[in-house]
Amino acid sequence: MEQYAIKGGNPLVGEVEIGGAKNAALAILAASVMSEETVTIENLPDVCDINVLIQAMESIGVNITRVDRHTVKINGNHIHGLVIEDDFIKKIRASYYLIGALLGRYKKAEVPLPGGCNIGIRAIDQHIKGFRALGAEVKIEHGFIITEATELKGCHIYMDKVSVGATINVMMAAAMADGTTVIENAAKEPHVVDLANFLNSMGANVKGAGTDVVRIKGVERLHKTTYTIIPDQIEAGTFMVAAAATKGDITIKNVIPKHLESIAAKLLEIGCEIEESDDAIRVVATKTLSHTQLKTLPYPGFPTDMQPQMAVLLGLSTGTSIVTESIFENRFKYVDELTRMGGDINVEGNTAVINGVAKYTGATISSPDLRAGAALVIAALTADGISVVEDINYIERGYEDFHLKLRSLGAQIEKVNNERELRKFRLKVG
Ligand code: UD1
Repeated sequence: MEQYAIKGGNPLVGEVEIGGAKNAALAILAASVMSEETVTIENLPDVCDINVLIQAMESIGVNITRVDRHTVKINGNHIHGLVIEDDFIKKIRASYYLIGALLGRYKKAEVPLPGGCNIGIRAIDQHIKGFRALGAEVKIEHGFIITEATELKGCHIYMDKVSVGATINVMMAAAMADGTTVIENAAKEPHVVDLANFLNSMGANVKGAGTDVVRIKGVERLHKTTYTIIPDQIEAGTFMVAAAATKGDITIKNVIPKHLESIAAKLLEIGCEIEESDDAIRVVATKTLSHTQLKTLPYPGFPTDMQPQMAVLLGLSTGTSIVTESIFENRFKYVDELTRMGGDINVEGNTAVINGVAKYTGATISSPDLRAGAALVIAALTADGISVVEDINYIERGYEDFHLKLRSLGAQIEKVNNERELRKFRLKVG
């Protein structure tokens, strides 16, 4: 089993390039089957979740050609089935985007119930409500969501909860429906907007994405396009926090600073210096950072996907910080591991009370999920001594070349496969 071996203590300094947004890419890949023609997608991140979705799409006859590591050409015109049987697909949450896409174009889809990170209940009632409002029948049988419609008709949907997934899924299903669909209380995340822009580039008529009312006027067909995925807000945020936690100085390139405002605001508040340009952001931490309060919220609020990384940072800041998780109920699973590294955090319900400590100490820790795994790597980078981070397959679901990018910034980190390689790392770093 691969692990990261990390010797902490080096400030991270230098420049890092951010890849395409995983969560936008998942939606856009799925939506590409809705076109009759070949679609080219650029800036696709080379991470496990994306590759699993590609494999599932290929299993139903979607033709996918890799032009280079980050570019694919997709043609969905030879689909031979609308039932995704691929077992891997259950592991990723975004498998359900194929429901919206296939239902939208072919009026039928059968997809295994989604998996993904175990960070909470992750209901899909709002997706189902949306499909039904459009006129589809939806049932759950033998672990599959089965949807079918003779015709999809535009409608008015009020989302009871702000849901990224449900907004995206309903947007796709409505893109080729008869008439206009209005989604109220829609999610406003950057990847919702990116999907709308992608659909529009294929000839769809989606307006209002990025506000809480999205209007989709159905069209009969979607044509070819070449589309570049936006930079990953969470990958960028993770490096911003890594700069702050290691008392470093990182310029994070190829970002949309607007998407990083809530993260930058918190870092500024606790004492970091931030410099922004058109497509880069620099985070410098020279002085002791201080405590704050933080609550995760739908965009433009502080992203839940940055909560573990930020909590690791606050664990090293002076005073007592309060972190409230309002999106997923099971997102504090890294706390036990951090406690083993000397962190002082108490969790009660959806709130963590974090008392800053002077330093973490190296330990063997395991990644409970994708973002918590990245957060623990940050903790290890600051820690006294050597840490071993296990279950890095979670981290690799969403971060491309994470350890290589960190190493280029001066981190002492290596991927090791066995005891012998770990011993070698220990000898090397002393
Ligand atoms: C997406 C992201 C994930 C991020 C999350 C919140 C992808 C692939 N994943 O997940 O990284 O953490 O947004 O920004 O883009 N809910 C319901 N009913 C539903 C749907 C959701 O009650 O039908 C609840 C969920 O349990 C959760 C909240 O709504 O408490 C938000 O979930 P949602 O925005 O749908 O998250 P995902 O799309 O699963």
